[in-house]
Amino acid sequence: MSNHKNIVSSRSDRGSFSGRLGYVMSVAGSAIGLGNIWRFPYLAAKYGGGMFLLVYLILMLTFGYAMIISETALGRMTGKSPVGAFNSFGKGLPFRFGGWINSIIPMLIAPYYCVIGGWVTKYLFEYLRGNVQLLAEDNYFSTFTQESWAVEFWFIIFAVFVFFIILAGVKNGVELVSKIMMPLLILLAVFVTIYSITRPGAIEGVKYFLIPNFKNFSWMTVVAAMGQMFYSLSIAMGILYTYGSYIKKDVDIEKSTKQVEMFDTSIAILAGLMIIPAVFAFSGGDASALQAGPALMFITIPKVLASMGFGTPAGIIFFLLVLFAALTSAISLVETGVSTFMDQLGWSRLKCSFIMGVILLLLGSASALGFGVLDFIKIFGMSILDFFDFLSNSIMMPIAALATCILAVHVVGLKKIAEEVEISSAFKRKKTYNFFMKYLAPFFLAVILISAVADVFGIIKL
Ligand code: TRP
Repeated sequence: MSNHKNIVSSRSDRGSFSGRLGYVMSVAGSAIGLGNIWRFPYLAAKYGGGMFLLVYLILMLTFGYAMIISETALGRMTGKSPVGAFNSFGKGLPFRFGGWINSIIPMLIAPYYCVIGGWVTKYLFEYLRGNVQLLAEDNYFSTFTQESWAVEFWFIIFAVFVFFIILAGVKNGVELVSKIMMPLLILLAVFVTIYSITRPGAIEGVKYFLIPNFKNFSWMTVVAAMGQMFYSLSIAMGILYTYGSYIKKDVDIEKSTKQVEMFDTSIAILAGLMIIPAVFAFSGGDASALQAGPALMFITIPKVLASMGFGTPAGIIFFLLVLFAALTSAISLVETGVSTFMDQLGWSRLKCSFIMGVILLLLGSASALGFGVLDFIKIFGMSILDFFDFLSNSIMMPIAALATCILAVHVVGLKKIAEEVEISSAFKRKKTYNFFMKYLAPFFLAVILISAVADVFGIIKL
């Protein structure tokens, strides 16, 4: 368990993971976060339950798999994060574009991620004060998000915490703690899940979440599932290039990819089982409750907790662990932004952290206030927070993934990628990988991108 010590984030003395375990744990630490516990359940509830889950699993095993392998192999081959990796194959505009779009996405996600981190912090605070019943009240969450300055306050508390950890350089400490917190999170999730699925009426929710029903399929199911897969596995945003650049040539890329996917998906499914059956138990699974969107976790979990009888300690533990998962991911999001600036501008860590801080404050505040004083601003009908989520996940990520596909297939060549993978192990699924990268991925990405845009402009109704 001493592997984490070798993860060095400074580019000047580029470190490396000491082995597969260190790599898998670190990727999992950045992958497992609000995406799994907060985002996955509300998307699954909204976009078809079991149908969403099925589409998600298929996409993850094929598409996600191919993308992770490509990004990791390109990172390891070049020893660079995305901007540098793209530039090692060419200097023209397309290369710069490909690298930067991958790097800009985390900078857009980090601000609103911290706003949600702020919501989690606020809930933890209220549980610490023993307000179990108050949080379970029907309109508590929507009233809270409209209180602009309260939301802004908690956002800043969370963001300051993230910066404190980054500047103090205790990243390795965080990785150590996350090895303790992650298993704890799983234990607690199993516990809450069992409680939640045994409530009267909950079994309908279990069925809705696990059994695919074609009636619930819509094209938006695919668009949302793909965005979520990218988000949850941190694909198409440069992270995996960077992590790939830290691994040694003897780490089995295929095997570690499988382990990361399994880890990440198990937590998402557990979270779905925790939250969706509770929606059915507490509201009879009516359609509007399933459509709650980003609010879902903040509405159902407090209701489950309030009905437990020992809601205060359970609430404290639950939100503490969610907070922790959110913190480790937020740190890695912000850190990626900082290191991109350091690499590209050659400025000091402090100066780059400052720039990132300004971006975070500006975009984060806009998202935080978007449900309150800035409520009048709607971008294509979306609140500011939803818009950033949509822009990064449904528009920019397909473009970034497309850039990686083009780089891998047409510039580097799949043969060279396979050679990179084969340095450490046999490439068992090479044929599937090649087929996917060459034909399916570009087609799929283009269709998804076009549908997302068409949906927003109301050209088609999905
Ligand atoms: N995957 C993280 C989650 O599930 C969120 C995330 C998206 C992320 N992009 C990232 C984390 C980049 C770290 C780095 O919550």
